[in-house]
Amino acid sequence: NMFLVPALQWPGMNIVQGKDDIFLDLKQKFWNTYKTGLMYWPFVQLTNFSLVPVHWRTAYTGLCGFLWATFLCFSQQSGDGTLTSVFTFLRKKEASAVERPPEK
Ligand SMILES: *[C@@H]1O[C@H](CO)[C@@H](O)[C@H](O)[C@H]1NC(C)=O
Repeated sequence: NMFLVPALQWPGMNIVQGKDDIFLDLKQKFWNTYKTGLMYWPFVQLTNFSLVPVHWRTAYTGLCGFLWATFLCFSQQSGDGTLTSVFTFLRKKEASAVERPPEK
């Protein structure tokens, strides 16, 4: 047991483990993001063709593309590729804003 402690503290070990984690993380995020996209884009298309007037469709698609890009950036930074992670993030922000004591 005593010999395991330095082995776990060896920096190379962390790098190897860290690398493993990073790839696992990316794969997980990619799959989640892909699934979110499969739900998001058909929804955008459906609303595009059924609700949005013809001359607004290009702008609407641009806006949805912008939102999607924002979501991708968030997922890479602090989310996990699911919409749930966005809502959890927003709720945490709200909660911390409420808990913070008012400034004098
Ligand atoms: C929305 O409709 C426009 C015009 O018909 C089309 O060019 C665009 O590709 C559509 N966008 C999506 C995401 O369906």
